[in-house]
Parts: sequence; C-alpha cells; structure tokens
Amino acid sequence: MSAPHDHLYLVVVGHVDHGKSTLIGRLLFDTNSVPDGKKERIEAACKAEGMEFEYAFLMDALLEEQAQNITMDTTRVPFRTPRRQFTIIDAPGHKEFLKNMITGAASADAAILIVDANEGLREQTRRHGYLLSLLGLKQVVVAVNKMDLVGYDEKIFARIRAELTEFLGKLHVTASHFVPIAAKHGEGLVHVSTHTPWYHGPALLEALEQFRATPPIAGAPLRLTVQDIYRFDARRIVAGLVEAGSVSIGDPIEFSPGGKRSRVKTIETWPAANMSGPVGAGLPVAITLDDELFVERGQIGAPPSALPTEAREFTGRVFWLHAEPLRVGDTLPLRLGTQEADARLVAVSRVLDAVTLDASLAPATEVKRHEVAELRLRVRRPIAFDAGGKIPALGRFVLMRGRRIAGGGVIDSAVQPDAGRDDTLPVTPASRTTLLGHRGAVIWLTGLSGAGKSTLSTALEQRLFRAGILPAVVDGDVLRAGLCQGLGFSDTDRKENIRRAAEAALLLAEAGAVVITALISPFRADRQLVAELCRVRGVPFAEVFVNAPLAECERRDPKQLYVRARAGQIPKFTGIDSPYEPPLAPTLELRTDLEPVEQSLEKLFTLAATLARESDQLFADSGSDI
Ligand code: ADX
Repeated sequence: MSAPHDHLYLVVVGHVDHGKSTLIGRLLFDTNSVPDGKKERIEAACKAEGMEFEYAFLMDALLEEQAQNITMDTTRVPFRTPRRQFTIIDAPGHKEFLKNMITGAASADAAILIVDANEGLREQTRRHGYLLSLLGLKQVVVAVNKMDLVGYDEKIFARIRAELTEFLGKLHVTASHFVPIAAKHGEGLVHVSTHTPWYHGPALLEALEQFRATPPIAGAPLRLTVQDIYRFDARRIVAGLVEAGSVSIGDPIEFSPGGKRSRVKTIETWPAANMSGPVGAGLPVAITLDDELFVERGQIGAPPSALPTEAREFTGRVFWLHAEPLRVGDTLPLRLGTQEADARLVAVSRVLDAVTLDASLAPATEVKRHEVAELRLRVRRPIAFDAGGKIPALGRFVLMRGRRIAGGGVIDSAVQPDAGRDDTLPVTPASRTTLLGHRGAVIWLTGLSGAGKSTLSTALEQRLFRAGILPAVVDGDVLRAGLCQGLGFSDTDRKENIRRAAEAALLLAEAGAVVITALISPFRADRQLVAELCRVRGVPFAEVFVNAPLAECERRDPKQLYVRARAGQIPKFTGIDSPYEPPLAPTLELRTDLEPVEQSLEKLFTLAATLARESDQLFADSGSDI
C-alpha cells in the first residue's frame, strides 16, 4: 500500500475533442486497472455493431457502471502503477467538470493538459490553462496527443511546445514535461514511443510518477469550518471539517466572524470518542467547548494567535460561467467554505479574456460568460477567509444565480474600510463611499402632474434598495405638507419650493443616498439652478423628463385635480393656466404614455446605478499582475 500522502489526484483537461477519454481509457487498460474481461466484452460489442474498438468506450463503460452503483462516485477513476496510486477526478464528460474545477469541489494535485498534435492549441486549451493558474495548480504535464496523425513529426511537436510554453509562462505555470503520445495506440504512455527517437524525456506515466502529492500545508494554523451544531445531553457539539492545521484538547479556539473565544474541552470524533487529538487536516471533527458559546454554521474555528481575515469587502478574480452576464450592482449569494452571504459586485477593475489573456484597460460594468474578471465584492455581513492562496480552501468562493453556481473565484485581498477605523479621522465623502459601496446622487424627475413621477420614484427606490444602493425619495406632495408648508403655486413660491427640495436632496445625497425627487418643477430656470447647486457641491445630477402629454395626464387624473382645475377651482394649475417648460436636453426622457412602467424603470435604474457607481475612487486600483 502506498502511504495516503503518496496518492496523487489528477485532472485531465484540454479541448473536448483532443482525446481525454481515450487517454484515460488507455491509462486504465495499460495499468491493468480495468476489471477482467471488460475490454473483451466491449471489443465483442463493437465488433457486433461493426465498429472499431475505442478506448474511450472503456472509460464511458466504467463511468456508466459506477453511475449505476450509487455507492461509487462517478467523478473518481482510480488506477495504479507499481510505484503509485492515482485517482483521476472529474473525468471528462461529467457535466460538472468545469464547475468543480473552479469551485475546488475537486482539488487536484496535478494536471494533464492534453493537446491534439494535428489541431494544435484551441481556445479551450488556453482557457483550461488559465484555470490551472487561477486554481494555483502548478504541477502540469502536457500530453501532445495524436502524434500518429502527424507522422510523429518532431517539428510539429516543437511548435506546439513553444506556443504553449509561452502562453503558460504568462500565467506563471511551467509544464514539467511535454510528452509526445498517441493514446489510441498506447504510444508514449508506459514507454516512450519508438516512433519518437528524437524525444528524450519520460513517458507520460513516468512523468506523472514524478509529481508530488500535495502535502498538508506545512505549519498552517487550524482552520475548522463549522458545519453544524448538535445538542447532545447537555452538551453542545460543534461539528465541522479540519481544513488546515490540527486541533487538540485544551487548544484555545476563536470563531470568526464574530470573535467568540473558548478552549477545546473534548474531541468527540467517532468512533474514537473522547480522543485527545490532534485531529489533522482533511478530517471531520466534533468538539465541545469549555464555555457555552453561540457558535453557528459558517464560522471558522482558529487559534486566537492566527485568525483568518474578517472583512466585508475584498478584491478577487472570478471566472464567470452563467449565460447572463455578471453586472456591477448585482447582488448574488456567495459561498465560501460553509459560509453563505449576499455579495454585491461593487466594481470590475478589468476583464481578462481567458483565451488571449488580453486585458481590458478600462474598468468594465459587466463580466460575460467565460470571461475572467478582477473585481471587488462587498458582502452584506463580514465573512472570514484566508486570501492570496495561503489556505486555498478558505480563499475560494462561488457565486450563485438561483440554485446554480454561476461563477467561482479566489480572493486576492481584503479591502478594509478606512472609514470608522480611526476615530480621529473625519467622515469624508470618500469614507462614506467605502462604507456604502457607492456615492450619493440626485435624480431629478420633472413633468406634469399625473405624468408618473411619484410612481416611478417609489419603484426606483425599491429597485435600488434591492440592488444594495441606499435610496431616498423627496416628493413634492410630502414636502408641501411639511418643510414647504405655507408655500403656494405662484412663480415665486414654486421657485422657493424647488430651492428647498434641492437643499433637502443635497443633504441626503451628501450623506450617501441616491435621491430621487418627484416635483413638477415646471420652470427651466429653477431646474438649472438645482443642476448648478449640485455641480458646486460635487454631487452627481441627472435631469429626467417624465413625459406624458397633457391629454394623457388629464385622462389619468389620479387625484381628480385636472377636473377641478378645468372647473376653475384650482387657479394656476400647471398645464392648464400655468405653463410647463419641458427640458431642452434632459439626461433621460421617459415617455410614460408609450412604454410600460417596467421599461421606464429599467432605464431609470441603469442611469441611477451608473451615476452612483461611476467613481474614480472605486475604480482606482487594479489588482494583480496577470
Ligand atoms: S412645483 O410646481 O412646485 O414643482 P409640486 O410638485 O411641489 O409643484 O406640487 C405639485 C402637486 O401639488 C400636484 O401634484 C398637485 O397634487 C398639487 N397642486 C395643487 N395646486 C397645484 C397647482 N396650482 N399646480 C400644480 N400642482 C398643484
């Protein structure tokens, strides 16, 4: 038996048609890891169908058998050489392949990157190469397959090696070997092929045997991810997984986020109940504590002297999988270890094309499928993690859309808000922005009574709130009942009404809110004054013309004011006997008579979110150097 740490977990990646299944089938066969008679049976079946035997069938047949046997994991294919035990995880064809790779559900020690000699590098080859680097998988061997199709030509092999070496080099990945093989014919797997006398390296299996099984991170502090709390007798048992380090009775332990501290009283790991430890990395453990702490699922137990980072905001890299792009302002559930919290995409500092490694220079507002983005996420409540690949399992996260994994990534570093940390520092617009994740703004709606200003302002308020942006509404009717009590509808009174509304909006915007105002504000000059006030105070401003023709507003007449105005009961009513001056160049015009509320709302939301997020301060840094 090989020692457990000698067991090597492998992933086979590369373009879908470059021969992964054939390679795995052949590796199994050549290492005698296929059950007796299996190959013969498949051979006979192929013959009966008039088909050529394929090693890929062997792998498929094995996977199928495993799938029927529910006790076996279809994503694990074991094989062994006289010197080593291997397990191929995430066999190709398995639907979750890419996802598991990104999410680290499958954590591999080494990878075989396969390239078809006849086709050369394809997009998927490069994308998978990128993923290897994102995951920090540094032990890589490249199998240049189907060499038989190119007459075992050394030049073709050398060209692929040069091209891929350059690409991987940019990602700081170095392949240990490039091995010429023809998996279908078993060439280059156990022994170097006689067709490649020009090749002086090892055969593929020899190259694999040279890899090191990843040892538990040496000297890592304890990381116990809490899965559940059980009540048993009078005891509270904290159950979880030791992701790193080890735990023994008597160890001081602190739970993050939250920072509650106690000592390990007992270790209840079944079957060796009441052992004293240490329980090491990779093992499940159940402990009780000296104190009755309120510990919950998602927390991480660690030594108080070496705690994980706790933060609400971080920078990282995400590989996006979902068909619908990830957009700035989106709020999605984030999972990291056993923690779950809603996270909002605050900013995308740049987007990388995982194929060409071309990076966008400007900050982006969305990340499309199969793009990799350097971004900043803000979590609704603090989470605990270890950034920068120190303890990989605690630096990886996934983002969900509904119940599906939509993307996955790694945390590069925590962004600690400077706001509020040092109580001698004044509260500044910048520190408010850091706290909220956006800046304040004024969205000034203008239009006739009944055009839809109030409806839209309430709807936008809700929409912004859901997207994690702090909204505030300043409504004409509400002001006139309070702050503007006593003002009427003469030109001077309207002017004063607008001035007060603008001051109120500015106070709220300066406190960080995205303010939506809903006032008729019929006069161009008054609105210009508001725009000027905002400019002077450095608050982003947008004028939105909520436009429905007078006839339509009269038809709606929600408050029955037009009827009364026509009857002469309300003097100086806007649109009837007092003018409305439409904006000449509004930031946005919404024809509420021609489009449904939802459509207007989306336009408004985009405008408001853009104003709130477009901040130099937010987009200033661009993370790592890839
Ligand atoms: S503004 O002209 O000063 O911007 P504001 O939006 O605050 O007006 O108030 C308009 C609301 O006041 C209308 O929706 C209506 O309910 C009420 N109102 C009462 N008298 C008038 C009037 N003469 N003209 C317009 N609105 C009036």
